Amino acid sequence: MQLDGKIAIVTGAASGFGAGIAERFVAEGARVTIADLDRARGAEVAAAFGDRARFVAADVSRGADFAGLVEATVGLWGGLDILVNNAGITHKNGPMAEVSEDEFDRIYAVNVKPLYHTARHAVPVMQARGRGVVLNIASTAGVRPRPGLTWYNGSKGAVITLTRSMAVELAPTGVRVCALNPVAGETPLLARFLGEDTPERRAAFRATVPLGRFSTPADVANAAVFLCADAAGFLTGVCLEVDGGRCI
Ligand SMILES: NC(=O)c1ccc[n+]([C@@H]2O[C@H](COP(=O)([O-])OP(=O)(O)OC[C@H]3O[C@@H](n4cnc5c(N)ncnc54)[C@H](O)[C@@H]3O)[C@@H](O)[C@H]2O)c1
Repeated sequence: MQLDGKIAIVTGAASGFGAGIAERFVAEGARVTIADLDRARGAEVAAAFGDRARFVAADVSRGADFAGLVEATVGLWGGLDILVNNAGITHKNGPMAEVSEDEFDRIYAVNVKPLYHTARHAVPVMQARGRGVVLNIASTAGVRPRPGLTWYNGSKGAVITLTRSMAVELAPTGVRVCALNPVAGETPLLARFLGEDTPERRAAFRATVPLGRFSTPADVANAAVFLCADAAGFLTGVCLEVDGGRCI
């Protein structure tokens, strides 16, 4: 019960890594707001995790939605200790000039702008209590960019730099800010990362990971619990690879 009594928001928790993080947080004793655009899946996931999980619909790219999400969480559970900015999207793997301007804007709105909304709407609630943790789900793409995902890579690089910048600015207030950099995992996003989801492409990618497999929601959730728990109270600005050695 490493998160006993903690109150958390996990964005994009209707699917993939976010659902894995939310499930594990509940198992570790937290009360969790599952935030997502997808109302049907979000409600289903929250119901499956029992009475310490609730779904709140939100588009995290929008300031008004983000403010409403924080307010709903404080109303539901009485505070906010942990915010996991996990919701994210990518363009399909391919030449950088073929990504439309609208898609470029949407990627930065979903992957990067929520950190700005975090500073304005979630951090003040944490600062009022003198503690809190923001955990951003970035990617190995922001550490070791590969061809074909340029705009996505850049958005995750921004998340890593913002994590470190927010960490150092917020440290005097007791709010910690960290990030996870997962390597590709078997979630609905994988097909877009690979361009085409074929057994050959999967095998070629797997061969670039020293530990020889894709990441799983459980790998990401275990690292998230570690960084969000009180035992990690002296860690801030840490951007931790969860990548089976891929970035070495
Ligand atoms: N899967 C991977 O290979 C991989 C690797 C490294 C990092 N990541 C990152 O991990 C995070 C989770 O990815 P995943 O693979 O679990 O993806 P996923 O597609 O399985 O889940 C993402 C969830 O975010 C939600 N979402 C999208 N836009 C949203 C918005 N504007 N507001 C609220 N919710 C929104 C979706 O509805 C979905 O439920 C992302 O930030 C992604 O970039 C994924």
